[in-house]
Amino acid sequence: MNNVIDSIVNRISNKSLELPCPSKKEMESVYKAALRAPDHAWLHPTKFIEIKGKGLDKLSAIFEKFAINDMKCEDEFLIDKYKNAPYRAPMVLVAITKKQEHPKVPKIEQMFSTAAAIQNVLISLDSLGYGAIWRSGIFALNSKILKYFKEDQNSEIIGYIYIGTPVGRKKKIPDLKIEDYVSFWD
Ligand SMILES: Cc1cc2nc3c(=O)[nH]c(=O)nc-3n(C[C@H](O)[C@H](O)[C@H](O)COP(=O)(O)O)c2cc1C
Repeated sequence: MNNVIDSIVNRISNKSLELPCPSKKEMESVYKAALRAPDHAWLHPTKFIEIKGKGLDKLSAIFEKFAINDMKCEDEFLIDKYKNAPYRAPMVLVAITKKQEHPKVPKIEQMFSTAAAIQNVLISLDSLGYGAIWRSGIFALNSKILKYFKEDQNSEIIGYIYIGTPVGRKKKIPDLKIEDYVSFWD
């Protein structure tokens, strides 16, 4: 295996994340990699919001308001869980698709492009020694949350990437058999 394949094969998602998070310069290289995701007709549909420090308080307030006002959640325990969610990592990226009308590129393909961009983010962060996890839950793929991010209904939140330095032991990577997933026509 070469180095690129080796690092993709050995990447894992990390749930326990702490400071330090990547520097501005490191994140610039991560965004460059993200923006090289496959993108039909080069519509550049993917946008990110990078959140850290006091920004996490803003995200926490959004999750709380959304749960109460839009999800009509009345369970105090759940509301607290949502409120605390952003603090599970020192940095959170919100990955958004700005869906455009295009004669050849359906909106779902534009969302696929953002998904590919997210994977590039995960691989790049791993190569820099950071940990990350792609999370969705009730806060993604939900048109009612968009207003809190000042996004219109042409946007879609594809996911939240929690980023930091991984804590604890690396989890074991499952040993999948290629023949269970690939068939060969020749
Ligand atoms: C679209 C999408 C949404 C996800 N949402 C969550 C989530 O909300 N919470 C979670 O714990 N894992 C979520 N995951 C799974 C993790 O990102 C991760 O892939 C999984 O824990 C497997 O770990 P691995 O990447 O190390 O194989 C999601 C994955 C995808 C592709």
